[in-house]
Amino acid sequence: MFFCMAKPTRWVLAFSVQMALPFSKPYFYDRRTVMTQTLCIVNQKGGVGKTTTAVNLAASLAVANKKTLLVDCDPQANATTGLGIDKNSLKQTLYHGLIGQASADSIVIDSEIALLKIIPSRVELIGFDIEMLNTKEREMTLKKLLSQLDGGFEYVIIDCPPSLSLLTVNAMAAADALLIPLQCEFYALEGLSQLLQTIKHIKHSLNPSLNIAGILLTMFDQRTNLSHQVAENARKYFKHLVFKTIVPRNVRLGEAPSFGKPILLYDGASNGARSYRQLAKEVMGIKPATKPAVKLFAGER
Ligand SMILES: Nc1ncnc2c1ncn2[C@@H]1O[C@H](COP(=O)(O)OP(=O)(O)OP(=O)(O)O)[C@@H](O)[C@H]1O
Ligand SMILES: [Mg+2]
Repeated sequence: MFFCMAKPTRWVLAFSVQMALPFSKPYFYDRRTVMTQTLCIVNQKGGVGKTTTAVNLAASLAVANKKTLLVDCDPQANATTGLGIDKNSLKQTLYHGLIGQASADSIVIDSEIALLKIIPSRVELIGFDIEMLNTKEREMTLKKLLSQLDGGFEYVIIDCPPSLSLLTVNAMAAADALLIPLQCEFYALEGLSQLLQTIKHIKHSLNPSLNIAGILLTMFDQRTNLSHQVAENARKYFKHLVFKTIVPRNVRLGEAPSFGKPILLYDGASNGARSYRQLAKEVMGIKPATKPAVKLFAGER
């Protein structure tokens, strides 16, 4: 598929691959005192499986006995409804925390899974970008808010909107590592160069310890050559950065949000549920680093 692309697309992709190759093996930092690992699910492309991954990875980590917080950083609030939370009944949401009207702990709410909590979102979050326009260090607002948390979370999973907006920049600035869902379809790799540029910029300016946990292949359809080609190209160019787990296209995964349930509670025996349990194992197996971050990008000091 890569070789069928128009020339400029190939050049952009080749350039981004050049930048991507020096990525280290995925890992999190050694945070002996603070054991929270904050993982941001990001891709500015819409509909690639970010929310499905955020909700189901968070649920799978919680079921594996890890105290987990899901942060819905998208005004669409799909992660919030995906966990069966009635948005209209909420007094305060992430928005109120970000603009300083609520403390972090006061906006954390329970889910059906005991060890899984969520900071919910709602449409008012859309105002964040504009309201913060004249605020100093506006890119660090989410990081500051999360640093106030008293919950002893082992994992914080942030679901991002489909844009490279101030909200996404905040999510990346607050994260230890990024998980990038890549839908197994034709244009999948095209937006990656822009995302990698943004990551590079954020790493240099806001979050020097930012790492990449991995690229996750989503909506893989065993029957189509295209899915296999995308998977093959992703592994060829991004090598060890691609998670071993592949999330299949699975009807039950698509149905679960309309019942307000993570897949583990909706159909725990489905292939979709199995894949997210496996992803959680991979994420939990990422060894904490014993040395400072290695370089993410060529030429980095
Ligand atoms: N593996 C899958 N199999 C079948 N359907 C899926 C799968 N993953 C996601 N979906 C469905 O595809 C749609 C898009 O998924 P999702 O909402 O997770 O993407 P997203 O990247 O969060 O979208 P957005 O960019 O709008 O936030 C949803 O209807 C979801 O239920
Ligand atoms: Mg989403």
